[in-house]
Amino acid sequence: MKRDNILILDFGGQYNQLIARRVRECHVYCEVHSYDMSMSDIKAMEPKGMILTGGPNSVYDPASPHAAQELFSLGIPILGICYGAQILAYQLGGKVSPALKSEYGKTNTVVDNSQIIFKGWNETSVAWMSHTDYIERAPDGFTITGHTGDCPVAAMQDEGRRFYAVQFHPEVVHTDEGMKLFRNFVYDICGCKGDWKMSSFIDSTVSQIKNQVGDGKVLLGLSGGVDSSVAAALLSRAIGRQLTCVFVDHGLLRKNEADEVKSVFGPDGSFDLNFVHIDASDHFYSKLAGIEEPENKRKIIGAEFINVFEKEAKKIGEVDFLAQGTIYPDVIESGLGKSATIKSHHNVGGLPDHVDFKEIIEPLRMLFKDEVREVGMKLGIPEKLVNRQPFPGPGLGVRIIGEVTPEKVRIVQEADAIYREEIDRALEQDPDARWKPAQYYAALTNLRSVGVMGDGRTYDHAIALRAVITTDFMTATAAPIPWDVLTHASDRIVNEVKGINRVFYDCTSKPPATVELE
Ligand code: XMP
Repeated sequence: MKRDNILILDFGGQYNQLIARRVRECHVYCEVHSYDMSMSDIKAMEPKGMILTGGPNSVYDPASPHAAQELFSLGIPILGICYGAQILAYQLGGKVSPALKSEYGKTNTVVDNSQIIFKGWNETSVAWMSHTDYIERAPDGFTITGHTGDCPVAAMQDEGRRFYAVQFHPEVVHTDEGMKLFRNFVYDICGCKGDWKMSSFIDSTVSQIKNQVGDGKVLLGLSGGVDSSVAAALLSRAIGRQLTCVFVDHGLLRKNEADEVKSVFGPDGSFDLNFVHIDASDHFYSKLAGIEEPENKRKIIGAEFINVFEKEAKKIGEVDFLAQGTIYPDVIESGLGKSATIKSHHNVGGLPDHVDFKEIIEPLRMLFKDEVREVGMKLGIPEKLVNRQPFPGPGLGVRIIGEVTPEKVRIVQEADAIYREEIDRALEQDPDARWKPAQYYAALTNLRSVGVMGDGRTYDHAIALRAVITTDFMTATAAPIPWDVLTHASDRIVNEVKGINRVFYDCTSKPPATVELE
């Protein structure tokens, strides 16, 4: 039987992945596709409902993206959000114009909560607005079900055709009752059952992998990060020792990290697979000697990673499949991507050219990160590994400003371990702290300065501590870590780590800074 699914048609808005995550949080499977997906593909998906997303354009601009008119005669419920709402208004005969006053931010919105889409809402609720056009006149057949002080049509619907539109963004946390709207839409209007569960995902993916792989051999580059670890566990459940995981340790991991990966996936761990550990630290240190420029460092680490991986893969001989820990945000971003390269990101386990394989296998490609973590827990990967904060592919290579040396790696590893320990300790006492960061680490600056220790002068390195609050990692603010936590971490670092005599806290936001220092 076909699984319930919701089709999200993307018109280029910045919150589109968030819409998909909200639908998945309702335990309903959904996929994001471009607004111009072909009608035959749409019909083949048999969606129970469709969501038209926000976007940066004006519907009355002839060059702007429009929906295929046939979409409106498929008999499938539609929810239009922001630009998607304006698409419904414009393409069904209403009028969209530049608003006399743009709305931006949290806005008191009055809704008709006797309507199914607003079931459980308060009559007046805070919703997040971000628009410069507005729906001046709703199309025939539509009734207006919500307004704000400046926006006469904040919500409208044609109940007969099951078309619903909201000018605000129910997907962002600033819309107080946004989740209720998604639940009302997917359950009450589209009739979805909520059958998207990670336990059934594991069962169906394990049997899919078994079918696809048969008695073939699979190779996976394991980085110790969440995605490749969960991919390894899932593949191991499906095909056991037909899987070989190659763990390339580039010597730029956090303190004890390589041992932790080995203890989980190595011969003493609990997974049935072949595990190859390559300690390539010296090779990477020698390639990085004398290199200071961040993009050069990133490129060298990326290229060498592939080289080492390929060399090991060759020893294994021909394999049938190369597995990757690609996840859904990577798929969405590469499919619809358009942003400028600020940093050449590379994910350890990127695609090697010279490995002999016939097909790629990506068992997590339809999952969001939260779902990947849940799958990992269910498969028995230790929580500490599954709930790891993000760590860049080039590792400490981008957390040491300027040239990387083994001594600098040691310094930053020690300082970072102390800092994370202190933050974790403080968070244990106050798990929902207002300052709780999504990512926190220590980096080594290229500054040396004078200090005094005992009776002697020191001339040592300065460490930078960073902690950011963010959900999407595209924008971030510096976390207001309590002063006593910071100073305690700082005291410990200068006392316990040889080579450091000064500690800075980085309080810049992104933009203009980035999360990592390089
Ligand atoms: P930036 O520094 O670009 O970082 O603001 C945003 C997020 O991405 C992580 N990051 C990377 N992740 N490969 C990765 O897989 C990379 O090359 C890379 N560079 C940065 C960073 O840790 C933060 O979470």
